[in-house]
Amino acid sequence: MNSAFKTKIYTPIRQNIELAANALVNGDIVAIPTETVYGLAANALNENAVKKIFTAKQRPSDNPLIAHISNYDMLEMLCENINEDAYILAQKFWPGPLTLVLKSSGKACPLVSAGLNTIAVRMPSHKTALEIIKAANVPLAAPSANKSGTPSPTSANDVFQDLFGKLDIIINGGTCDIGLESTVLSLASEKPLLLRPGIITKQEIEHVLNKEIAISSAITQKLSDGQKAHSPGMKYTHYSPKAKIILIKAESEKYIDYINEKALIDNNIAALCFEGEEQNINCKTVVLGKKDDAKQQAHNLFYTLRKLDEIGAKTAYAHCPDEHGISLAVYNRIIRAAAFRVIEL
Ligand code: TXA
Ligand code: MG
Repeated sequence: MNSAFKTKIYTPIRQNIELAANALVNGDIVAIPTETVYGLAANALNENAVKKIFTAKQRPSDNPLIAHISNYDMLEMLCENINEDAYILAQKFWPGPLTLVLKSSGKACPLVSAGLNTIAVRMPSHKTALEIIKAANVPLAAPSANKSGTPSPTSANDVFQDLFGKLDIIINGGTCDIGLESTVLSLASEKPLLLRPGIITKQEIEHVLNKEIAISSAITQKLSDGQKAHSPGMKYTHYSPKAKIILIKAESEKYIDYINEKALIDNNIAALCFEGEEQNINCKTVVLGKKDDAKQQAHNLFYTLRKLDEIGAKTAYAHCPDEHGISLAVYNRIIRAAAFRVIEL
């Protein structure tokens, strides 16, 4: 392929951290590891640099980005009216997989917020991510480092597959520990509002704040035509592999019977099932994890969605996880991957 960029994966040694930081300071984009998923980073204070993220990902320009920070000075530079809840949550969960949406100070370039008066901020815990932010000494705007709409990348190789020819530098920080994007919580309105579920759950946040938080209906339901999204990201197709995903809400036995009936008439189907079910299913299977281990399912989800394409599945029947605790995060991603196609048995 002819390309202006020589996409290369670099080990996270000091020399390459400096290379990445210099590229970022000079206005280039760099893919960096985080504990959740890989991010496609640019200097959040440089409009031209941030523009390159939208071009490389083919991301709609009304979908705002998360600014990644390495200290509280950066938080206070980017945000205004930082309330007590924000400090309580930051102290409890940062560095880590929690993104806070706060009133923007206007210091980040407008594209980061996609024209909103708020800005999303998070301090990642991945050692290499923190090293790169510190070395660049600017907040880094970074969405997931995948082509818009496809499953998020959880390894340097996933980024390479998705964005080859669109950037020079991918820093390899290994497979992401968590494997699912951060929890996004808005503190910009009266009552805290959960915009995207993650490994840090609604219940944990409520426990730490000692009060109830609201949850956006778009987490589990399709927005109706014309309905305004609290978080612009929620209105787009997401996490979709090439295979058509259909979610099956059923007990294990019924789920297996349903698939085995389909398998009699269609060779191109696969099952995205829970551990143990594969032994009784008569088509190709990809195992999401143990039924009662949502953390494991979260870790595996994007890998398994990519795997379905690798094995050539045209249609994949996914056994639906429940909607409680960490499972809500898995459910939220998988129902979007399925474009809200659900069959209840
Ligand atoms: O774990 C993560 O959060 C990863 C890693 C790289 O940090 N990043 C990530 O970014 O998932 P992205 O761009 O794929 O998702 C950001 C989400 C989108 O749904 C976006 O709409 C929402 O956060 N968001 C960003 N800024 C917002 C704002 N000001 N108000 C409401 N939602 C916002
Ligand atoms: Mg994303």
